[in-house]
Amino acid sequence: MTSTREAVHAFWIAGRQATGDSTFDVTHPWDGTVVGTVSVPTDEQVEQAVAAAHAAVGPFSATPAHVRTAALDHVAKRLAERTEELARLITAENGKPIKWARGEVGRAVSVFRWAAEEARRFNSGDAQRLDTDAGGTGRLALTRRFPKGAVLGIAPFNFPLNLVAHKVAPAIAVGAPIILKPAPATPLSALLLGEILAETELPEGSWSVLPVANDRMPALVQDERLPVISFTGSDTVGFAIQQSVPHKHVTLELGGNAAAVVLADYASDADLEWAATRIATFANYQAGQSCISVQRVIADAAVYDRLVEKVVAKVGAQVTGDPSDDATDVGPLVSEDAAKRVESWVDDAVDRGATLVTGGKREGASYAPTVLADLPGDAILATAEVFGPVLSLHKVDGTDAAFAAVNDSKFGLQAGVFTHDVQAAFRAHRELEVGGVIIGDAPSYRADQMPYGGVKASGTGREGVAYAMADYTYERVLVLTGLDL
Ligand code: SIN
Repeated sequence: MTSTREAVHAFWIAGRQATGDSTFDVTHPWDGTVVGTVSVPTDEQVEQAVAAAHAAVGPFSATPAHVRTAALDHVAKRLAERTEELARLITAENGKPIKWARGEVGRAVSVFRWAAEEARRFNSGDAQRLDTDAGGTGRLALTRRFPKGAVLGIAPFNFPLNLVAHKVAPAIAVGAPIILKPAPATPLSALLLGEILAETELPEGSWSVLPVANDRMPALVQDERLPVISFTGSDTVGFAIQQSVPHKHVTLELGGNAAAVVLADYASDADLEWAATRIATFANYQAGQSCISVQRVIADAAVYDRLVEKVVAKVGAQVTGDPSDDATDVGPLVSEDAAKRVESWVDDAVDRGATLVTGGKREGASYAPTVLADLPGDAILATAEVFGPVLSLHKVDGTDAAFAAVNDSKFGLQAGVFTHDVQAAFRAHRELEVGGVIIGDAPSYRADQMPYGGVKASGTGREGVAYAMADYTYERVLVLTGLDL
């Protein structure tokens, strides 16, 4: 902690800018320079934010749809106008290459646009006649949705803007107050989003952005005034939160070790070129720090050798280096500690008998795009989420074996299946234990309006604008009597 520094980033309590009595520095993962100093809310300020959110539950839910849609449209417009500034901020705090940071801002714009659209449609209500039994004569049920209460959104470092957007925009769309806690390594984009939210007419208390340290979170998690928790992060932390508050509504977007399956019919040179390009790109984008980056390639023996040759060449061709350079594909991980952990897991795999096909080198916070073959089942990498630029290759015989290999994981977030066979596509949809199956592309594909989330250790609940809106709300029925139906 430092006490004073110029241009300290203020936080946001109930829509108003504030500073606390301590600060912390945010450093650039590429060169360690300080890119921002952030003010930390005191316990009293956190209490103000929670009390204001609690007080806003009724009033915010009652705001007309046009107020909420105007705010969401405004945020979308302003994010688009400030794309370059935001992208540079994301790169500075997170280390992701600028081209991926620009893509992230574009996605956040889309999330707020979708939320505005969904807010216009939200809660017109479903009418149901009840006179299907004599006792219901003259009766009609009208079902509408209402917020479960104020939301505590806990965001991760890997998409500092867009995964914040996925928590904030649906909350605004349904009129649920939200307290957003950004990741300690990457709070700057969320604080800038606060600047844009402050330009809207959203009611007091409807949103706060509180950059508090993780060790202060248990008190917020336990706070009864925040009955909904939306958490994105590791399975260990996510399940600990869920177990500590079993009576709350907890949505968990956790990890994965996503598989890209290449079936035997995907065999032309053009097919394998496409599959290899997508696999190499999405094993390494954001240095592998996405829950749906490709960690496992499961390829049919009929195409394995030809595919692997292309994958290895394309992984080797990834441009590594300074993330602010337009040409860079793979920048540093979020910290040197993160890169050291990846290094130790690869070393562990090699010690246990894995073959290092390419990569395997660390320099500071950067880890070279890496491919492993012959990964033994007892290596950490075989079962855990690497969250780094590391790919393992697995040869299988036939579709049964391929799908069994996908399911042989504690995680189940998304899977990619390269096939032209529509029956295999439907079979994958039916049999793969994941939240999403992508046919003809890597598992890393995500459109922000789709339902997104996992099964098994990948979590529970769904994001994706309309799905998060459903998650934050519950149905309340209104029965009207004495009607002349
Ligand atoms: C995640 O890492 O879970 C988010 C992936 C994405 O939004 O593309």
